[in-house]
Amino acid sequence: AADAGAAAVLVGNNVPGPLGGTLGSVAEGRLPTGGLLQPDFDALLPRAGTPATLVLATRSATITTRNVIAQTTTGRPDEVVMSGAHLDSVPQGPGINDNGSGSAAQLELALRLGSAPPVTNAVRFAWWGAEESGLIGSTTYVRGLTPEARRDIAVLLNSDMLASPNPAYLVYDGDDSDRVGAPPGPRGSDGIERTLRAALEATGVPPQGTDFDGRSDYGAFIEAGIPAGGLFTGAEEIKTPEDAARWGGQAGAPFDRCYHQACDTVANIDRPALDRMLDALAVGVGTYAVDLGGPNG
Ligand code: PHE
Ligand code: ZN
Ligand code: ZN
Repeated sequence: AADAGAAAVLVGNNVPGPLGGTLGSVAEGRLPTGGLLQPDFDALLPRAGTPATLVLATRSATITTRNVIAQTTTGRPDEVVMSGAHLDSVPQGPGINDNGSGSAAQLELALRLGSAPPVTNAVRFAWWGAEESGLIGSTTYVRGLTPEARRDIAVLLNSDMLASPNPAYLVYDGDDSDRVGAPPGPRGSDGIERTLRAALEATGVPPQGTDFDGRSDYGAFIEAGIPAGGLFTGAEEIKTPEDAARWGGQAGAPFDRCYHQACDTVANIDRPALDRMLDALAVGVGTYAVDLGGPNG
C-alpha cells in the first residue's frame, strides 16, 4: 500500500477497522501502511504523490440503541415529573463527566426516592441513548409519544455534565425556552429556573443562567411545549476571571479540559460540584413530585 500520510478513517460499528474503531466512531490517526490494511481499504488509498489527507467512509453498520425509562408506581401518571440524562458518551473517551455524572445522579435520585414514594405526581427517570449522535434517543422518545402522553409530562429536568473539574454552576435560562414555545407562567420554565437557582444557592454557590442552546436532551421537550430546565457545570468554554471570582477554580482554562476526550475519566470529576448539583436536582425533583406549583412556581 502507498503511504497515506495523516489520514482520517471512519470506521463502522461492530466491524473491526484498521484503527480498531467501534460503531459510529471516528478514529483519527495515521493509517498503518503495509499488511495491516484490509483489502478494501487498500484499494481506496491514494497513490504515492496524491494529497495525503483522505476520509474513508467505507464501513458502517446500523445498531440499536435504547433509552432506559423507569417510573415510580405512585403519583399521578398524568402529571409526570421527568428527570433525564444521556447515558452514551463519545467514542473518544469514557465520558465520565459527560455524562456519567448526570447518569449517576439519576440513579442516586431514584435510589433516594424509592419505587413507591408518597408523592402527588409520578416521577419518571430517563437515561437517553445516542445523545452524542444528535439527540437521537430523547428526540425519538418525545416525537413517539401520543399527544396525550406528551400532555402528561409536566416538567423535564435535564442533567448533562454535572461535575466539570473547573466547574461553573449553571441553570438553564427559563426565558429562553418560553420564547420557543413552552407555556410561560407558574408552570413554565421560568419557575423551574427559579426553583433550581434557589436550590443551588442553598448549597453555597451563586448560580448563573445558561441558554438553552439546543446542545442537550431538553430540545425535543421544549419543541413539544413541555416546560424544561436543568443544571450544567460547563463544557469546553473558558472560565472568565469573573467566573473564577464567583466559583473559584482556574480562570483562562476550560470548565472541562477533558471534554469529549480520552481523559474524561473518574479523575475528571469534581466531587463537590457533583454533590451540589445532585442536592439541587433532588430539591427540584422532590419539589415538583409533591407540588407542581412549588415554592417558586
Ligand atoms: N450536550 C453536550 C454534550 O453532550 C454538552 C453540553 C451540554 C453542551 C449543555 C452545552 C450545554 O457534549
Ligand atoms: Zn458530549
Ligand atoms: Zn453530554
